[in-house]
Amino acid sequence: MPWEYSEKVLQLFREAVQGSGGTHMGELEAPDGFGEHGSIVCGDALRFAFRVKRHPTDPTRDIITEAHYLTFGCTSAIAASEALCCVLEKQAKTPLEALRITNQDLIDYLGGLPDQKIHCSVMGAEALKAAVIDWAKKRGVDLSGYLPTQLERQEEGRLVCKCFSVSEPYLRRKIRELQLHSVEAITNALKAGGGCGACRYAPGGLKDLLDECWGTISESEAVAETPVAPEPLSPYQLGKKVEQIIETVIRPLLQRDGGDIELIDIKGQQVYCRLIGACATCPGSAQTFKLLVEQKLKEEFSEQLQLIAV
Ligand code: FES
Repeated sequence: MPWEYSEKVLQLFREAVQGSGGTHMGELEAPDGFGEHGSIVCGDALRFAFRVKRHPTDPTRDIITEAHYLTFGCTSAIAASEALCCVLEKQAKTPLEALRITNQDLIDYLGGLPDQKIHCSVMGAEALKAAVIDWAKKRGVDLSGYLPTQLERQEEGRLVCKCFSVSEPYLRRKIRELQLHSVEAITNALKAGGGCGACRYAPGGLKDLLDECWGTISESEAVAETPVAPEPLSPYQLGKKVEQIIETVIRPLLQRDGGDIELIDIKGQQVYCRLIGACATCPGSAQTFKLLVEQKLKEEFSEQLQLIAV
């Protein structure tokens, strides 16, 4: 499925992976606050860290001086992580102020996200909260009054979605906090339900939690909330989209190392491309083809898409 990313998402992603000045991807040694969210097994994971200038007598007045992240995930996961650091620099001087940053702030900064990628912004906001909790423990700051108590205590509890390791207390909190009213909305925001689907309508599953939270939603209402699947792309539209992704995302990455790529043809789900410049003679070109180009196109379109080198 092609994702309609905003210009800002593509720009942040490109700048982050190119390591442009002012971007924040990378490890931070000995951070004052460290938090993570997601898991590599589930497809997205973010490790976020910040450092502060310590106030000599009042830790609540510590000033955040630096923030970095390491993200495993798709274009929007990396862009949302970058957005998190940018929003933090703009909106928060202290860790306590940082607690006011929400996933909606990240979405706004990114100029929007596709519904199915909202979970990337949630991952950013949750990693930030976890990092502030870590800082508070180290500095002896009491966060009661700033955070729900169950969040301070780690939300362990019954696992509702086993595919994505999502617990019941976490689901209950996020359903209310993010005003999630359908199973689809939960999947988009939290990934829960997006794997085997067993947790969606099972007793005690996502639908039951929604009903407990908001009252029973009738099947017709639930169906009405289900987003309509997008129309499949025509060969012409697919060709234009592939060209656009190559132009805006893949080519800048290859050109950084003196290479380039040429789109030769598209037949059905088969995309024929040729690596040129330094990439053509590089011993790692087969890997570049697989890991960078094909993976990126699959992520943007579908797993069925096949990249063929010519
Ligand atoms: S258990 Fe939730 S999607 Fe598989």
